[in-house]
Amino acid sequence: MDKFDFNGKKVLVTGASSGVGREVAILLSAMGAKVVIVARRESELQKTLSLMEGSGHSYRVLDLTDFDGIVETVKDIIAKDGEKLDYIAHCAGLAVPIPLRSMSLANISQIFSSNTYSFMALLKCVAQKRLFNDGGAVVGISSCVGVYGQAANAVYGASKGAMDAFMKSAAKELRPRKIRVNTICPCGIKTEMLANQAIKAIEGDAINELPDYLMLPDKIASIVVALLSDSMQYISGVAIDVDEAKTWED
Ligand SMILES: NC(=O)c1ccc[n+]([C@@H]2O[C@H](COP(=O)([O-])OP(=O)(O)OC[C@H]3O[C@@H](n4cnc5c(N)ncnc54)[C@H](OP(=O)(O)O)[C@@H]3O)[C@@H](O)[C@H]2O)c1
Repeated sequence: MDKFDFNGKKVLVTGASSGVGREVAILLSAMGAKVVIVARRESELQKTLSLMEGSGHSYRVLDLTDFDGIVETVKDIIAKDGEKLDYIAHCAGLAVPIPLRSMSLANISQIFSSNTYSFMALLKCVAQKRLFNDGGAVVGISSCVGVYGQAANAVYGASKGAMDAFMKSAAKELRPRKIRVNTICPCGIKTEMLANQAIKAIEGDAINELPDYLMLPDKIASIVVALLSDSMQYISGVAIDVDEAKTWED
């Protein structure tokens, strides 16, 4: 059996309207998976769908800050074709630099609900046998900011560090069903996320103006897909640094 084979497997990919999530969806489709993609921007989800191979894929417009909405949407995705999920790649995320003096409960809640509570809601679904098959896997994209810290990014870092901590206990709880749960903690990736932060300083095509040392989203996607695959059978409960051993330079 090909341990990288996703034929006949159903996968949910969040954040698939751009960046890493889009590349994960495209790669999984090329590997035979039936992929359901999720984000808020419908036109960008449709663009991702147009770039995917094979058939049977679909999209859902969903604001991942809605915890109950996530659970209801997953139930609905299963009800549509009667097939449970086998894998989830949680690639959605929000990074807004907030200096300590500017923190408010509102901006903390926005970042935690986008990054962390959404991950918790997805794992609540995974824990329900009628929604998620035994033997599958979940990968969440965390960040090296959660591991090493970054000035003016404490809230984002805390939201990602909380993802990592949550993942470790979830992996233990789901182990009896042979469901693996991991996170990856990358540093800078050349996507809209960094371009949006740099946009005020750059005229024109912000992504292409980003520096070349940043990692590329399709390379990060292949790490996510490898971690989902059966080739990583005993790897669970781990937050993996993805930074080419640069160990996070400020
Ligand atoms: N880029 C980096 O340097 C970097 C470094 C370390 C970790 N990461 C993490 O990598 C992941 C992927 O980010 P990226 O770099 O690919 O950035 P990106 O291109 O900005 O993608 C972020 C994705 O998250 C979705 N999203 C954000 N808030 C959402 C919400 N409330 N509901 C639904 N979807 C939402 C966005 O879709 P819509 O706007 O269409 O909803 C988009 O598809 C994120 O978790 C990020 O924190 C990025």
